[in-house]
Amino acid sequence: MAFLFSGLRGKTPEKAPEPSQEMSNTDEARRIISDISGHDIDTWVRPSSFTHELEESVRGHIHEELCAWMFYRKLAADCSRSNVCLHGFSMLWERSAKECMIDMHWLEKYLITRGGRSKPTPIEAPKIEFPDSPIEPIQPCREAFSVEKRILEDLERLSQMAEKCGETSLVDAIQTRFMRKESRHVKNLGDLLQQVARVSKQPGMGLYLLDAELRHSRGIIPWSFHNDPDRHDDAVQNIRSKIYEGLEKDKYNQ
Ligand SMILES: [Fe+2]
Ligand SMILES: [Fe+2]
Repeated sequence: MAFLFSGLRGKTPEKAPEPSQEMSNTDEARRIISDISGHDIDTWVRPSSFTHELEESVRGHIHEELCAWMFYRKLAADCSRSNVCLHGFSMLWERSAKECMIDMHWLEKYLITRGGRSKPTPIEAPKIEFPDSPIEPIQPCREAFSVEKRILEDLERLSQMAEKCGETSLVDAIQTRFMRKESRHVKNLGDLLQQVARVSKQPGMGLYLLDAELRHSRGIIPWSFHNDPDRHDDAVQNIRSKIYEGLEKDKYNQ
């Protein structure tokens, strides 16, 4: 305690603020509060590069994702019907629907973070119906391919516009988060369309096997690994390290 008191002993006590000084601090705080209250903070958050036209295009893509979500939900439900009973395909559409919802959610958050506003527009009900008599997957698969292609093209438009406005963070997000993935989706569904066309030439066994393949991979397109350049990098790295290991062993044996 003696030490504690000795520490305090050297300090000069702080002077209480003069009443007039206290008053001016309060006045200043009041002035700032009224200044901030009168402003639209969204405009402060919003960078000048995030133009109204760009905001409208982001909302347009959100709408696109929501329409695709509804379309895939309908296909997933149709494929689960006992009349169709293609559960592998149903899992694939379920996954696709979830991806659309996640993308929509991300973009909506982004819109708000940049000082934009959410303005939902009505989603048109999908006209697709999975043919069940006979079961014919080619038309729904072709439609799914077109949906993915439309999303990719819309992203390309959005990215070009963001680049023109100098909105670099949006360009980066669209290119790294969406376009790489979407390009793979287009290729994967293009491959699926080809497989479906092949097996549909002779109805029966082929479709059953394709559905079983999708079922075993829990709705992930089984060949998607081969269409992913990033995973290809990993595979090359794997081969390289195996070769290196072999060379190391050779050195040891000599
Ligand atoms: Fe998407
Ligand atoms: Fe997609």
